[in-house]
Amino acid sequence: TLDDFTEEEVEGILDVSIELKRWFKSGDLRKEASALQPLLGRSVALIFQKRSTRTRLSMETGISKLGGQPIFLGSDDIQLGVNESLSDSARVISRFNDVIAARVFGHHSVEELASLSSVPVINMLSDKFHPLQLLADMMTLKEYYGSENTKGRTIAYVGDGNNMAHSFVVTSPKLGYNLRVATPNGFSTLEDVQEMGRREAKNKGTDILFTEDAQEAVEGADVIVTDTWISMGQESEKNARLKAFDGYQVTNEMAKGANSDWIFLHCLPRKPEEVSDEVFYSDRSLVWDEAENRMWTAMAYVLMCQGDDVVL
Ligand code: CP
Ligand code: NVA
Repeated sequence: TLDDFTEEEVEGILDVSIELKRWFKSGDLRKEASALQPLLGRSVALIFQKRSTRTRLSMETGISKLGGQPIFLGSDDIQLGVNESLSDSARVISRFNDVIAARVFGHHSVEELASLSSVPVINMLSDKFHPLQLLADMMTLKEYYGSENTKGRTIAYVGDGNNMAHSFVVTSPKLGYNLRVATPNGFSTLEDVQEMGRREAKNKGTDILFTEDAQEAVEGADVIVTDTWISMGQESEKNARLKAFDGYQVTNEMAKGANSDWIFLHCLPRKPEEVSDEVFYSDRSLVWDEAENRMWTAMAYVLMCQGDDVVL
């Protein structure tokens, strides 16, 4: 009730609060602390409107390893968009934390958070993009081929024109890859995202192709990648989708036009329909390295969001 405290005790708490606020907001002190552990004294709010294994664990573990405090906020736990508008939540959460990361349904939600938050906002997956996953995928390719040996290689994405496809479209040309995207009729990537990919490919002088023909996409490819045909939130469309995607499963037979040393990527979680066991569990499959790299790339990205006052 505070009735059980003396005046001195209450004043004491207020004075310590003012001192803590000064200490944590002082640039010099933050820099000093980060020399010991880069994220010491910093916290990252992790908002999840959808399930997650890799993203949650890679962020929680990675931030902890750097001395920071990850705070998991599931959709049942906070007021996000239920009793309080997203914009009011963003204003409040960014008063407590150094970074906000959010996994949302509509991409507009993460954009709204970003526009109202006073700290950096990271997209941990929206219905349109999955950028953190692409960092891990690109790291995996860089490790596998070597830094100097990635440009000019060809990636074939076969499957749903979803958040993963979109992130490949915006990221692969930027890093000098050629990209072919094969999606069935009615499930193509969005036109505005295709435009972003074409613009980037033109700047970089790489090829980009959108087709409904999976064989055309994999012809001469170095990397074949797919994702689930039924993303989170689309469970009720399962039957229609299984029918529409018939013929798009990644198998050795389907990939016979690819380069003989082609490799396979998948962000996980995987369901058997989009890729055969024979490919998924083969030596071509880099999916476990790809999953591990979620953590190293998440750590790098959170550090980058802290700017120059983090000492590495
Ligand atoms: N790849 C990925 O984002 O997995 P989770 O949904 O388990 O986080
Ligand atoms: N496209 C999938 C990716 C999961 C990591 C989904 O949105 O559910």
